[in-house]
Amino acid sequence: MDARFSAPGASALEPIGVVGCGWVGLVTAASFAELGHAVHCRDIVTERVAALERGEVPIHEPGLSDLLERNRDRLHFTTDMPPVLERAQLLFCCVDTPPTYSGDADLSRVERVVDEIGDSQRHALVMKSTVPVGTGHAIARRHEGLGYVSNPEFLQEGSAIGDFMRPDRVVIGARAESAAFADRVAALYDPLEAPIVRTDVASAEMIKLASNAFLATKISFINEIANVSEELGADVAEVARGMGLDERIGPKFLQAGIGYGGSCFPKDVSALKQLAGNSGYHFQLLTAVIEVNELQKRRTVGKLKKHLGSLVGREIALLGVAFKPHTDDVREATSLVLAARLIGEGASVRVYDPVAGEHATDLLPGAQVCASALEAVEEADGVVLVTEWPEFRELDWAGEVRERMTTPLIVDGRNFLDGAALVAAGFSYEGVGRPRAALAAPSPA
Ligand code: UDX
Repeated sequence: MDARFSAPGASALEPIGVVGCGWVGLVTAASFAELGHAVHCRDIVTERVAALERGEVPIHEPGLSDLLERNRDRLHFTTDMPPVLERAQLLFCCVDTPPTYSGDADLSRVERVVDEIGDSQRHALVMKSTVPVGTGHAIARRHEGLGYVSNPEFLQEGSAIGDFMRPDRVVIGARAESAAFADRVAALYDPLEAPIVRTDVASAEMIKLASNAFLATKISFINEIANVSEELGADVAEVARGMGLDERIGPKFLQAGIGYGGSCFPKDVSALKQLAGNSGYHFQLLTAVIEVNELQKRRTVGKLKKHLGSLVGREIALLGVAFKPHTDDVREATSLVLAARLIGEGASVRVYDPVAGEHATDLLPGAQVCASALEAVEEADGVVLVTEWPEFRELDWAGEVRERMTTPLIVDGRNFLDGAALVAAGFSYEGVGRPRAALAAPSPA
């Protein structure tokens, strides 16, 4: 009998298992629960499971707490695998695959999950974790009985629930032996009415890595256009607007700034480059993408020095610690690299972030984490806007901020602030790829 219809009445929807209650796991669990499924979640961290059982959400993701709360009756949390295996046959693997020193993905957590499930013919491992191309085949070879479906996630932090519910596409990769499991996974997404890409496992794995690497390439490309624009007097925002209207290019991920960060792009770009290298192919383009991203962070320090000369003894405020707004995630955040570099140059660094400050205290040795933006800019010789939190736009720059600062210098790493207004208020303003001449000119209608 089709497993979806094996349970009567209200629970006619297939129950699912989620292994790993981190960000991907919780968003997946809460979203499937919202779609009506009973979701059995397993995490090995006892405190995390206890907190989730109490209704506490250990991460910051807009809408996630509400969704978990609303679907509490359908969500079950445990530290043990057997009850999950007993109640669900489709097991979404959502454990993390952090980079090793070499840039390869560390698959030890995935391996542990696979070993725990073993060769069960009743179950399929549905891989949401980002894994190197070839992982699925390797697992299927070792555990021939176990079903295996690759179902990569394309969620963005800060908008993950919406991304889950309204995906551009759902990718499902499976071998012929697991086609029935793949059908069941596809059925879970039916209510979303999204295009489904049914393919083989290796291609599904590659779609995930290639998508992230392509988006990172787009960012490094526009950052280089911004750098050249600074020299040649063009305004990168105008250039991106003009480019983005070409449907073949599209407007997204053309926002120049101080480089990409986060838990995915840096890791996945390195992983793909490394994977190619291990297969004997030197992926030159990705080597450049990574290098440009690193240089972009360094250019911020150069912009401060251009105005201040030596940074020894200077007070620098960093606004924003999270790698992007609406998240408390500081993994691979530019702020961390920047703070360390500024401290290395002899500056005193104060940082403020609306949600990520506390998390980052240990990762920001030597920097002072402040309770407000105004506290951070007190006596500052320069402010660097690192993360485009909306509240930073609302600051009274011409008044309260200007009065507190010693030297009115702003390096806007996200082209987020109104540069022309700041210049008019007496600030020195440095954006990314927006030379002052462009700021002074009236914006085209
Ligand atoms: C990304 C992918 O978008 C998502 O599909 C995948 O599942 C995980 O990785 P996320 O890490 O949440 O999601 O962040 P995203 O919004 O994509 O931004 C990544 C980084 O690129 C951020 O540091 C952001 O500031 C930077 N970025 C993004 C730019 O510098 N310019 C842009 O135009 C877009």
